[in-house]
Amino acid sequence: MKKIIAVLPGDGIGPEVMSASLEVLETINERYNHQFIFQHAAIGGAAFDIYGKHCPHETLEICQQSDAILFGCVGGPVDAQDDPKWQGCEANSILALRKAFNFGVNIRPIKMFNALQENSPLKNNRIGQGADIEIFRELSGDIYFGEHRRFEDENGVKHASDTAEYDENTIAHIVEKAFIGAQKRNKVLTSVDKANVLDTSRLWREVVKAQEKNFPDVKVNHMYVDNCAMQLVLNPAQFDVIVTANLFGDILSDLASVLPGSIGLIPSASLNKQGFGLYEPAGGSAFDIQGKNVANPIAQILSASLMLSYSFGLHQEAKAIQDAIEAVLKKGVKTADLCTVDETPVTTTQITQAIVQEIKAICIA
Ligand code: IPM
Ligand code: MG
Repeated sequence: MKKIIAVLPGDGIGPEVMSASLEVLETINERYNHQFIFQHAAIGGAAFDIYGKHCPHETLEICQQSDAILFGCVGGPVDAQDDPKWQGCEANSILALRKAFNFGVNIRPIKMFNALQENSPLKNNRIGQGADIEIFRELSGDIYFGEHRRFEDENGVKHASDTAEYDENTIAHIVEKAFIGAQKRNKVLTSVDKANVLDTSRLWREVVKAQEKNFPDVKVNHMYVDNCAMQLVLNPAQFDVIVTANLFGDILSDLASVLPGSIGLIPSASLNKQGFGLYEPAGGSAFDIQGKNVANPIAQILSASLMLSYSFGLHQEAKAIQDAIEAVLKKGVKTADLCTVDETPVTTTQITQAIVQEIKAICIA
């Protein structure tokens, strides 16, 4: 299979973990006879240095001409946020891409690795039954893309307002995808809202209820977002697929992302109605460890595996990557974020090489 992939490494650890994932994709190319062509493009602070913009049209064009986008991470060091290079960098890059391609569906799989049971911040009596959750977050509407306003009243007092808005079609699209996702898994869908307070949530609930009839095999629970935050910590095993609005999904997916032990393990997929996708790790640019060859590349590599599966239908190849990662972790090959006190961490390049070797062992050419 021949595919063009737009590669946007971005800032901080982005380039290091991206190059790890490209090595893995090259191995897939070689072993499974595919031809992935990588078109590099600048994004974030790295793009600002060249174009004076975080998301230049040159980058958008490369993305438009590709079959999928593999994205690293953007944003600057915490102490440099006043520098114009970093001001608004994350929103300008990420939200611009979401808007340009109308990515309405964001999927964040939260899955424990067997070898990392000890890594969860939850005690064994909470995480003992594991966690295997898919969060479907609506990505194109809500308070993110409503009107943002600042004004002063007649007394000179400053005000700010952000409008949350949804139309039923936008909700129906993500809800349908989540139902289909649940059908392929354990058939339990938790719709998360704040219907006791918000009209957008009441509309959300109506849309979910209207679709329930089309998916009689899926059990639906409605849960308020505050309760959901609590339940994710108390008993994560109760969840299968979660579907929720943009802002709630942002917060809940960060909360859930630490359950497996490190945000460096969590990939994500953003898809539009045409099925075009952007794949990125859930974590950020982690400037404190940039250039030290210690970053965990697994989230970026798993993002590439999601791309193979969702965008190219290459499920066997995607599974080979996931199995290789599980095997490497089982052997105790871990980056610093995954090591307990008595374990010795390996470097980004070492864990990448170990994953590449496992893939080669899984698929003998
Ligand atoms: C995410 C991020 C973004 C979001 C930020 C960086 C704009 O937190 O992808 O979850 O809020 O959606
Ligand atoms: Mg977030």
